Amino acid sequence: MTIVAVFNQKGGVGKTTTALNLSAALARRGLKPVGIDLDPQAQFGFIAGITARSGDDSIYSLFQRNRPLREIIQDSPTSGIGIIPSHIELSKVDALYGKGYNAINKLNISLQMEKMAERNGHWIIDCCPLVGVLSLNAIFACDGLIVPMSADYLSIKGAIQIQKTLQALERVLKRRVNRRYLLTRFDSRRRMARDVLLIAEKEFGADVCRTLISENVSLAESPSLNKTIFEHAPNSRGARDYDALLDELMADGFIG
Ligand SMILES: Nc1ncnc2c1ncn2[C@@H]1O[C@H](COP(=O)(O)OP(=O)(O)OP(=O)(O)O)[C@@H](O)[C@H]1O
Ligand SMILES: [Mg+2]
Repeated sequence: MTIVAVFNQKGGVGKTTTALNLSAALARRGLKPVGIDLDPQAQFGFIAGITARSGDDSIYSLFQRNRPLREIIQDSPTSGIGIIPSHIELSKVDALYGKGYNAINKLNISLQMEKMAERNGHWIIDCCPLVGVLSLNAIFACDGLIVPMSADYLSIKGAIQIQKTLQALERVLKRRVNRRYLLTRFDSRRRMARDVLLIAEKEFGADVCRTLISENVSLAESPSLNKTIFEHAPNSRGARDYDALLDELMADGFIG
């Protein structure tokens, strides 16, 4: 069982697209993913066809009353992904619970209990674009962190900032956070995209995924149809890219 968090504090870089379609790629292989929607925007759950009726039916109840994660999983109707949905109440977590160690360790404790109870399945966490209690929970809980960055200069600046944030967190965690930087919306015809790839390789070395996620219209369309890329356009470039990403992450043990 591997816990993967998908985080970048920069907005709109492909976090939700990556969390959703990596989960869908796992589901197609019968690997029983559970997606945790840790973003109050609640887009991961929504695209997968799941919304929470109340805050208590969402991941918010973990923060509010330590509700066991298993109780909040709902099955996405068609994608094969189990979803722990978000709810707008989640946006109160920072203000209510602060950034103390107990508040940022809650998801970690719950997922460690899941690990003890069950060996199968993988957990994919979609984060919001902020370094706050929610994203820190995901980073503390994960076995591996994927940092998606769209292939532009501001995105790479954001990723370099994350590298510094992680180095500070690692002093608290007393371990290195295993991570992969993933270029998304990549258009090889653009010089800027090729330049960004070179900068990423120089900054992050072997932590850059060899798989590049191409700019792909089917990936942009599928959220409006409430579908994963494999349901919407299984033969598209986007579907091939996310399947190749899973191959790569499994081959190098990032997902075990
Ligand atoms: N490879 C791609 N090709 C084309 N469009 C893409 C691709 N990846 C993501 N998109 C589109 O870009 C937009 C932003 O993607 P996404 O919602 O995954 O980013 P995000 O990092 O989760 O954003 P936020 O920070 O708001 O949570 C969406 O409209 C999505 O459909
Ligand atoms: Mg998102």
